[in-house]
Amino acid sequence: MTLIETEGQPGTRPERRPSGRSVLMCRPEHFTVVYRINPWMNPAEPTDTALALRQWQALHDTYVGLGYDIHLIDPIAGLPDMVYAANGGFVVDGIAYGAKFTHPERQPEGPAYMEWFRKAGLDVREPEEVNEGEGDFLLVGDTILAGTGFRSDSTSHEELVRIYGREVVTLRLVNPSFYHLDTAIAVLDPTPGQEHIAYLPSAFDEASVALLQQRYPDAIIVSEADAAVLGLNSFSDGYNVVIASRAADFERQLREHGYHPIGVDLSELLLGGGGVKCCTLELRR
Ligand code: ARG
Repeated sequence: MTLIETEGQPGTRPERRPSGRSVLMCRPEHFTVVYRINPWMNPAEPTDTALALRQWQALHDTYVGLGYDIHLIDPIAGLPDMVYAANGGFVVDGIAYGAKFTHPERQPEGPAYMEWFRKAGLDVREPEEVNEGEGDFLLVGDTILAGTGFRSDSTSHEELVRIYGREVVTLRLVNPSFYHLDTAIAVLDPTPGQEHIAYLPSAFDEASVALLQQRYPDAIIVSEADAAVLGLNSFSDGYNVVIASRAADFERQLREHGYHPIGVDLSELLLGGGGVKCCTLELRR
């Protein structure tokens, strides 16, 4: 059977295609858990920085294998959460909207990432409003899905509209374990016209769930168990989806939908409340 024959038939899977990705990452050289700003973090529990580095390297090497263009920002001593590069800003159309962190412990990361963006030749916009970058902002098609409730202030969503002139959809998070949007939604295919996401309904208030159902009727709904290992905190290029290896059902769902899931183990970085996506900031020029 040729692809042409199957195209458009009801129940036929769309063909998934990878597209190259450019990402920014930060080695967890100074990773540790010494404060608690989300329920995953427990400063009394020991962390193993060497193990975090090995696990992060495996993620990095997975991206290398997929042919992504990888950029690195120098880690700064005393900023243990800097490894979660997704929070460092939001980059679309070559414009980098800087982060302004909620918690004082992470606030110095904002200027550090903006300096990197500047040196990389991006058009940097200093933030007025509290926001945690791609942790709470996800580009799907031409729309920016924007989270609020725990970290990014909803006023930052208005700032996004002013900066990018794109549609911004506000989604309210209600479960403290899923405090960033990228822990509750995975963007599987951002291509306009074939947008596809996965999400955990219980992470959102009722109005947000209604919005998601209406906009993405064919979305993958993940189990609580998979979300609880930060399975949704994944990185997709439209075909390859790098996910937490422990998210077994999500992996099966992805295969059924024509994706190629690749499991990685970031158990050590989970102690800080972050997974695959948190360690990955997409650079869209
Ligand atoms: N410890 C970090 C924090 O609580 C984890 C950030 C996770 N990043 C993300 N994009 N969800 O801020």
